[in-house]
Amino acid sequence: MELLIKKAIGFVKDFFKNEYSGHDFYHTLRVYNTAIEIAKEEQANIRTVSLAALLHDVDDVKLSPSTSLNKDNARKFLIENNIDYKEIDLICKIIDEISYKGTDSVKPSTLEGCIVQDADRLDALGAIGIARAFAYGGNHNRIMYDPEILPELNMSEYEYRNHVSTTINHFYEKLFNLKSLMNTKKAHEIAENREQYMQEFISKFINEWEGNL
Ligand code: ADP
Ligand code: NI
Repeated sequence: MELLIKKAIGFVKDFFKNEYSGHDFYHTLRVYNTAIEIAKEEQANIRTVSLAALLHDVDDVKLSPSTSLNKDNARKFLIENNIDYKEIDLICKIIDEISYKGTDSVKPSTLEGCIVQDADRLDALGAIGIARAFAYGGNHNRIMYDPEILPELNMSEYEYRNHVSTTINHFYEKLFNLKSLMNTKKAHEIAENREQYMQEFISKFINEWEGNL
């Protein structure tokens, strides 16, 4: 592995050492590994994909609101490692286009961005996606489920970021939308399988909630 990538892995490991909200070092590592697998199939630029995947959450608006606009944390790492300014701007653009923002989400303008976005979203699906949703809900003092609170579909970025709901509703408000938003064929296939598992989980959850033994 290139020294630069090793350094980026060390940087994010240190950066996320006290983070428990579901955006942690191992999330970043999974996104990186998945993104590389998709990048190989799509013949994309592996180094750009790797750096964008590894740095994609260090300026997340929820974790680091003061650096999120200019991606200061990512920029600082890239400048210190002598990456030229064109590649830095490209990596920051990729990071900027990744995030899920309800109906304001964007399709990334580069192949590398499409790949990192897919990899990030795949980590919100499947067994790990279920675990992350409940970890996030607990971390934000959300209740798991309330049959009287209905999911709100088609929210804008502002609504998506500001409304308070239940963790089960999050499946309908975001997670079940992700499959159809995947950019690459490989990610779409993986998403299909992971979503099916989550649908089964939700039906079992509701069944047990309703007292069916
Ligand atoms: P992204 O990585 O696209 O920016 P988020 O920051 O919205 O995604 O989400 C990070 C993780 O936390 C994901 O696994 C997501 O499903 C989960 N999460 C985000 N918002 C909620 C919520 N309101 N309830 C439960 N889980 C959530
Ligand atoms: Ni992420």
